[in-house]
Amino acid sequence: MSGIDLAAARHVRQVLLDSGFTADGLLGALGPSAYAALGRGEPVPARRALAERRDALASLVELFVLGAQVPVDRARRTLPLEELTALGLVDVGPGVTAVVDVRPYGESDTDWYVVSDHGPDSAGHESAEVAVDHVLGVGGASLTLAQITPRRDVPRALDLGTGCGVQALHLGRHAVHVVATDRNRRALRLAEVTAALSGQEWDLREGSLFEPVAGETFDLVVSNPPFVISPGHRYTYRDAGLPADDLGRLLVQQAPAHLAEGGTAVVLANWLHVRGQDWRDRVAEWVAPTGCDAWVAQREVQDPAQYVGLWLRDAGGSPGDEQDRRYEAWLDELTDMDAEGVGFGWVVLHRGGTEGAGGPRIEDVSTFPRLPRGDEVAALLSVRAGWGSHDAVALLAAAPVRPPGLRLLAEDRAGDGGGLQTWPSRASLADGWRPEVLLDAVGAQLLRSFDGATTVAEAADRAAAVHSLDPDDVRAGALIAVRGLVEDGLLLLAAAAPAH
Ligand SMILES: C[S@@+](CC[C@H](N)C(=O)[O-])C[C@H]1O[C@@H](n2cnc3c(N)ncnc32)[C@H](O)[C@@H]1O
Repeated sequence: MSGIDLAAARHVRQVLLDSGFTADGLLGALGPSAYAALGRGEPVPARRALAERRDALASLVELFVLGAQVPVDRARRTLPLEELTALGLVDVGPGVTAVVDVRPYGESDTDWYVVSDHGPDSAGHESAEVAVDHVLGVGGASLTLAQITPRRDVPRALDLGTGCGVQALHLGRHAVHVVATDRNRRALRLAEVTAALSGQEWDLREGSLFEPVAGETFDLVVSNPPFVISPGHRYTYRDAGLPADDLGRLLVQQAPAHLAEGGTAVVLANWLHVRGQDWRDRVAEWVAPTGCDAWVAQREVQDPAQYVGLWLRDAGGSPGDEQDRRYEAWLDELTDMDAEGVGFGWVVLHRGGTEGAGGPRIEDVSTFPRLPRGDEVAALLSVRAGWGSHDAVALLAAAPVRPPGLRLLAEDRAGDGGGLQTWPSRASLADGWRPEVLLDAVGAQLLRSFDGATTVAEAADRAAAVHSLDPDDVRAGALIAVRGLVEDGLLLLAAAAPAH
């Protein structure tokens, strides 16, 4: 990449930190109510909270958060104006204005700065349609990807379609070498400033999809790509210019060639719900040729009108004939594809996890209580990778243990004549991301038996005796139930279980 003035960036970072221009600093200066209002896009309470202040923090908030003009003499007195200008962050005219959006961002123990273009509805800026090479700030999809990505220490990580660099920031904490690519040169330029202002260094490369990393492999690949299924190629940040949902398929099928042994790819995607086709079959076709273990989770489904409306609003612009014309053309295209809806979610590929995994796991998680965290995703991958060494014989000999926080609720309900009937028991994890699982009487008894000393075979035989069932049938059912419970985190296969 071109190279920016790193000394200037280091100095500006120090000024931003010293001024309290951090997530905690802003909360302290504005107070919880004005801070929360900012998060809702309401700048007035923050303006009032800062009305009496003329210090560096006030200047920074006015410039970068409220989109206001700061008088040149005050900006010069409180901020390193030459360096801010040299880094392309502000423009000095009759007053000083922000050229880009600079936001404090970070994990609980970091202070980073994300540099992006102003959004269509940013404070202080007219609501207007964004430019074709618009560089997106941190959005809902960015946060989803950041949250679900497994965070083990790795030598090499790739952020494909880095934009403002938000994923690369997270990767920078646990990857020795971070490669960040983008097709949009402006995005790379802003990502470079994001890295420098956040005290990180990445290997930034320009190019489409995996072109810039041809022949290279990574331990972790993440991508929040331009996945929107849209006519044409209007905005680089969201439109790949490929037919239908081909971008997701292409990324998923090209990723394995860039995964080191044991490596993981986490890719956000949209997929079509085509009339007469189960969406699971569609994404199963994406992952089938990868040779990797795959987990696909659908977090949201929208009907065509919801989908088009959302993405038209996302790019800004005013309602009117032109917007209606685009709406029509977009709906026409989705109709031509026989689309009943569009799914959003993630595809996780794990190289080396195929053996014994029993095919991809493809599920709808749209009603689940929350998103999984990276450690929960890592646990699922690791369990699935372990099935190769847990064939039926080994699993019957294993002695699983209930995880801390497991809740197992049994319920009796009075039927018509007042007699009590036992309803399916419900198992869940306190603060788990998955909803409760319903268990029949045998399943509940199995779960109650697992204390780390009782094997699956023993528990199954005991359940067969109690319920007068055929032991072979119960053992077969127990294997399926245990695999499901372990993948759902409701049962742990102790590392030392006699499985081998
Ligand atoms: C939705 S934004 C995501 C930005 C950021 N990674 C995040 O998580 O918020 C998608 C990014 O992919 C880039 N992009 C678009 N087409 C691309 C392509 N063919 N190859 C690589 N990057 C591309 C865009 O310029 C944009 O920065």
